[in-house]
Amino acid sequence: MDITIVGAGYVGLATGVAFAELGNNVRLIDIDREKIEKIRKGIAPIYEEGLQEMLQRNMDRIKAATTYNEIDGIVFICVGTPSLPDGSINLNYVKEAVENAARNMEEGIIVIKSTVFPGTTEKILLPLVKRHSNKISIAMNPEFLREGKALHDFMHPDRIVIGARDEKTAEMLKELYKPINAPIIVTNPTVAELIKYASNAFLATKISFANEIGNLAKLLGIDVYEVMKGVAMDHRISPHFLNAGIGFGGSCFPKDLKALRAGAASAGYNMRLIDAVLKINDEQPLRIIKILEKYMEPRGKTIAILGLAFKANTDDVRESRAIPIIKELLKMGANIKAYDPMAMENMKKIFPEIEYYSSVEEAIENADACLILTDWKEFEEINFDAMKRKIVIEGRRILKNKEGIIYEGVCW
Ligand code: UGA
Repeated sequence: MDITIVGAGYVGLATGVAFAELGNNVRLIDIDREKIEKIRKGIAPIYEEGLQEMLQRNMDRIKAATTYNEIDGIVFICVGTPSLPDGSINLNYVKEAVENAARNMEEGIIVIKSTVFPGTTEKILLPLVKRHSNKISIAMNPEFLREGKALHDFMHPDRIVIGARDEKTAEMLKELYKPINAPIIVTNPTVAELIKYASNAFLATKISFANEIGNLAKLLGIDVYEVMKGVAMDHRISPHFLNAGIGFGGSCFPKDLKALRAGAASAGYNMRLIDAVLKINDEQPLRIIKILEKYMEPRGKTIAILGLAFKANTDDVRESRAIPIIKELLKMGANIKAYDPMAMENMKKIFPEIEYYSSVEEAIENADACLILTDWKEFEEINFDAMKRKIVIEGRRILKNKEGIIYEGVCW
């Protein structure tokens, strides 16, 4: 099939390259000229497991452009939906992308992949499309891709959700996803929109729940990981997303939960559970500093920070839990020595004033304490001998060898 993807970010690029791998002709459109130039040369502009190889393998089926001329077939809208000050999302990019696509199409399907509040596709985007043509249909097809594992998740999803307004559109999209072995749910766009928000909200709730139990466990001198092992064996609960730590970050969970809460508030409902999930998440990273303060007054001390990305195996620092921690430590007058295998360039844009090192060894040298904030594999085994004081506090559970150090976990 002929597919156009508007927005070549993490979601759009992974989706486009994966559709090309399945044998479709894909055109990627993005306003970022530099990004488009890279894609044209077969260079992936972001890090995503397997993306570089898959892009190169499918270059004969992938085109990239900054303009929309004469598109047809299926158009996926994958542009960003940044937060507004009240937590609701800024729909301008989505609206603009839908209008531009509709203006350049005779017929076809516009599929919304960007996460939008229930009702957006039907009430806001459909009228924009109808202004240009009655031969273009609209659908909502949320993504459930984890950053870093996006290509794997695309090829092996738990389910595919198609929110369509008519059978013909639903059939076309089902056909497109046919090579993928997963159950397909066909519903309307509004239900599809809420499935996406409810899924992310539930996963985030699991994490804040694990952190709530973790905070209590720490107080009682109990290891929350042992507790959750026992809890997770109940098949109704499942073992995933129960890892306590410094909370969730990234471009999706915090933004989506705030958007859900803001949208619900304008509809007249106060989402108290979601509010609590966000509150726990805001407080969680600062707990690691409270533990540090048991050992020292951070002012004038040198603190090594290992892990800057919002999770391991990505260079993405959006809503990373390292940000509030570094901010607070700087406020307290500490000196920071930071290291991350991939995310240092991105963090330098937020904190140009801290020191960055090219290895764990250099970052921990002469440090008064070390905070581990991301579960990168290379943090499993660290020799802390070069530290001034061997105080290590973990925000994620990754360290294997704790011999000869003073060790604490944020919830264990
Ligand atoms: C998340 C969802 O997992 C995807 O299904 C969804 O498509 C995506 O958001 C989205 O809406 O676009 P992602 O943000 O890439 O994907 O990252 P996750 O792997 O879900 O991790 C989110 C955060 O939660 C990370 O900071 C991670 O460290 C934290 N986390 C995760 C925990 O603190 N504990 C856990 O048990 C699991």
